[in-house]
Amino acid sequence: MNALERTLGLIKPDAVQAGHIGKILDHILMRGFRIVGMRMLRLSRTAAENFYFMHRGRPFFESLIDFITSGPLVAFVLEREGAVHAYRELMGATDPAKAAPGTLRALFGTNVERNAVHGSDSPESARREIAFFFSEMELMFPLVEQKIPAEL
Ligand code: RTP
Ligand code: MG
Repeated sequence: MNALERTLGLIKPDAVQAGHIGKILDHILMRGFRIVGMRMLRLSRTAAENFYFMHRGRPFFESLIDFITSGPLVAFVLEREGAVHAYRELMGATDPAKAAPGTLRALFGTNVERNAVHGSDSPESARREIAFFFSEMELMFPLVEQKIPAEL
């Protein structure tokens, strides 16, 4: 049995603009994740450069910063057994053309940059990225049972 974990997810500006917030959240809830924090915001360039610091110097970095700051995004914290790996699986490969059928990127992504969603790639990244978007206090509400929807 996997340990209970938290991970940080984003609905990127392409998917927000396309009107896919509700559908993406439905897929996530259907897979047994609980949403323990959520907010909509637009990143400044400085914030985006900090969030994606590991990609500094890569050829796609400037374009990635342009894209991720181009409009509002939705940031959320998900909780589930093995949440980090399970959410990466639900997202699919970085390039939507290579993502497995039924994954969020296959369903809602456009290309390797405009790929609809982000998810932390390790428990260490999750801790850093959760703290980037949320204060400890915001994620400390009393846990209540959230129903998993019966069907999409
Ligand atoms: P993410 O961090 O957004 O969850 O995506 P990932 O782990 O699957 O991919 P990563 O290698 O961390 O890349 C971060 C984001 O940069 C954009 N990208 N563009 N033009 C390109 O070749 C390219 N490669 C990556 C994507 O938006 C990718 O999600
Ligand atoms: Mg990544």
